[in-house]
Amino acid sequence: MNIAIVGTGYVGLVSGACFAEMGADVVCVDIDKNKIEALRQGKVPIYEPGLDDLVRRNVSAGRLHFEISLDNVIDDVEAVFCAVGTPPDEDGSADLSYVLSVARTFGRLINKYSLFVTKSTVPVGTAELVKAAIADELEKRGVDIPFEVASNPEFLKEGAAIKDFMSPDRVVIGIESERARRVMERLYRPFLLNNFRVLFMDIPSAEMTKYAANSMLATRISFMNEIANLCELTGADVNMVRKGIGSDVRIGGKFLYPGCGYGGSCFPKDVKAIIKAGEDRGYDMRIIRAVEEVNERQKSIVFDKLADALGNLKGRRVAVWGLAFKPETDDMRCAPSLVVIDKLIDAGATVVVYDPIAMDECRRRIGDKVIYAADMYEALVDADAMALLTEWKQFRLPSWKLVRRAMKGNVIVDGRNIYDPSELAEEKFTYCCIGRKRQV
Ligand SMILES: NC(=O)c1ccc[n+]([C@@H]2O[C@H](COP(=O)([O-])OP(=O)(O)OC[C@H]3O[C@@H](n4cnc5c(N)ncnc54)[C@H](O)[C@@H]3O)[C@@H](O)[C@H]2O)c1
Repeated sequence: MNIAIVGTGYVGLVSGACFAEMGADVVCVDIDKNKIEALRQGKVPIYEPGLDDLVRRNVSAGRLHFEISLDNVIDDVEAVFCAVGTPPDEDGSADLSYVLSVARTFGRLINKYSLFVTKSTVPVGTAELVKAAIADELEKRGVDIPFEVASNPEFLKEGAAIKDFMSPDRVVIGIESERARRVMERLYRPFLLNNFRVLFMDIPSAEMTKYAANSMLATRISFMNEIANLCELTGADVNMVRKGIGSDVRIGGKFLYPGCGYGGSCFPKDVKAIIKAGEDRGYDMRIIRAVEEVNERQKSIVFDKLADALGNLKGRRVAVWGLAFKPETDDMRCAPSLVVIDKLIDAGATVVVYDPIAMDECRRRIGDKVIYAADMYEALVDADAMALLTEWKQFRLPSWKLVRRAMKGNVIVDGRNIYDPSELAEEKFTYCCIGRKRQV
């Protein structure tokens, strides 16, 4: 089966490599020439565990190709997947210009029945805009070529993207015809041979499912952050509360971890976009608005705790462990680290950072506003405080002796609740975390 995927970012590249691994012939297309050139030379531009090998293997097997345009590809494929970005517009709505530009290219190029599958996260109603853009291009050409659209939102998680794509909990597909259904069924069957959980539905429901899923997950995080903040004020321990409620099967234990706020390329923008979709229809999404407000406040919580513990931050040296918005990725889009670093610098502190993978990404984003350490312990040298912002495995069991020796001060602010308060107390640290006792 031959397919093209337009947009070779986190979603497009992972999907393309995984479809190729299952035997499909896949062309990944991107307008970024450097990216395509690098991929042709076997250089994977993002960090995602296992992706390098997967890409290399399928390129050498001749099933995965990279192109800068659909021109020479379109006649050979059964479906074109659109996996370009949908960043937030100034008003919070999803910017659909990249998706519609791909739709127009599709309309300009197709010569036979073709299926346009939207994998990008797009608001309800986008399929109609895509259809109109394609039809407009066909009309301009004066041709009448049959085409269809489908919606196939992606649920992979950065850091575990290949596993998620290869063995998904479910695949959601919005279609309008048996013909489109058959194409999509054939493509996904290898992933779900043992447990074929493809949920076919109408296109608006598929589009909405993605936003509802991300909003629900963001809601659980903000909910737990509120409970954690109240735990601190009341003397309860949020870890106990989390276990207490997570063991209720109606609630379940996942996504109940409080911390320093969610970030990444998806939750922040999708939460904004669903609020805007409600607003556009005169409906106030009150719960989701609160979810966003709580998250914005939570991103400052590590800074607030540092300020409480150190008093005046001017001239203080603060080490930051972890820059990526979560472990196992180099993605810093909307990462809490960016907020904490900005606030520390505004307050006059010197910030020294270390992240196992996201150092280059941080340099690209904020340049020399911070000092870059060569390793996690070097970041601590002469620091008054350390803030843990991403729970990378290598940060979980540090040598507290080395930490003590390197630091000038003794303040540790744990934005992800990964350390044991009693152990830190024994090592004579002033330890602050989220939703457990303020200081030990
Ligand atoms: N990153 C995730 O974890 C994730 C998970 C699920 C869904 N999504 C959604 O998938 C979509 C893509 O996200 P991403 O993180 O992969 O984005 P990304 O920014 O990593 O990649 C998008 C790619 O599209 C390319 N592009 C833009 N316009 C193009 C055009 N006209 N033709 C060809 N290429 C073009 C860009 O150069 C870029 O390489 C978004 O809608 C996002 O919300 C992302």
